[in-house]
Amino acid sequence: MIFDKPITIALSKGRIFEQTMPLLAHAGIEPRDDPETSRKLILATNHSNVKLLIIRATDVPTYVQWGAADMGVAGKDVLLEHGGEGLYEPLDLNIARCRLMVAGAEGARLDGDRLRIATKYVNSARRHFAARGQQVEIIKLYGSMELAPLVGLSDLIVDLVESGNTLKANGLHTLEHITDISSRLIVNRASWKMKHALVARFLDTLREAVSTAAD
Ligand code: PRP
Repeated sequence: MIFDKPITIALSKGRIFEQTMPLLAHAGIEPRDDPETSRKLILATNHSNVKLLIIRATDVPTYVQWGAADMGVAGKDVLLEHGGEGLYEPLDLNIARCRLMVAGAEGARLDGDRLRIATKYVNSARRHFAARGQQVEIIKLYGSMELAPLVGLSDLIVDLVESGNTLKANGLHTLEHITDISSRLIVNRASWKMKHALVARFLDTLREAVSTAAD
C-alpha cells in the first residue's frame, strides 16, 4: 500500500503489539525496532511516512482523541472506560479477545445491597450494576484485582478473563458475563476528514487482513 501522507499509529506493547503486527504486515508495514527490546517510544517503519507510537494501553484513546496520533489500536475495555469522545471506532480487529466478567470467591453472591466491587473498569462496573438496579461501592484498583476478595477488600471483582487461569489459581469463580472484549482500530476525527482517502484505503486493507485471519 502507498502512504502518500504521514500517518501515526498508537499502540501498546505486549499482546496488542504482537497481534497487530501481522495485520500491519498485510498493509506492507514493518517496524524497524522491536518494542520488547528497544526503549524507543516512536518506532520508524519501512515506510518513511508511517510511525508507530508505543504507549500504555489506557493512554491510546487519549493520544488519538487529541490528534497526537492519527489512529490507534485499543481494547474495547479501555474504550468503554475512555468514553470514545473525539474518535471513530470503524473496525473490530478481532484480536486480544477476552471477556469482562464479574467474579468472586467461593460462595460469593451477586445479589445484595452495598456490595463492594474492586476493579480497574470503574465505568463499566458502575453501568453494569446500575443496569441490575443495584447500589454498589466501587473500589478503583490498577491491577491484580483477584487479590481483593481474598483479603477482604471487596466482595466481588470486575475483571478481564481470557483463559480463566488467574481466577482458578486464586480460587475465584465467574458470576456474570458483562461483555465480550477485543481490540478496535480507532481514528482521530480530524485525520478521518483530512486524510480520508489514505485512511479509507488503510481500513480496507486491514478489513481484508482481519477476514483472512478469521478463515
Ligand atoms: C489480565 C486480567 C486478569 C488476567 C486474565 O491481567 O486483569 O488478571 O489477565 O487472564 P487469564 O484469564 O488468561 O488468566 P494482566 O496480566 O493484563 O494484568 P493486570 O493485573 O495488571 O490487569
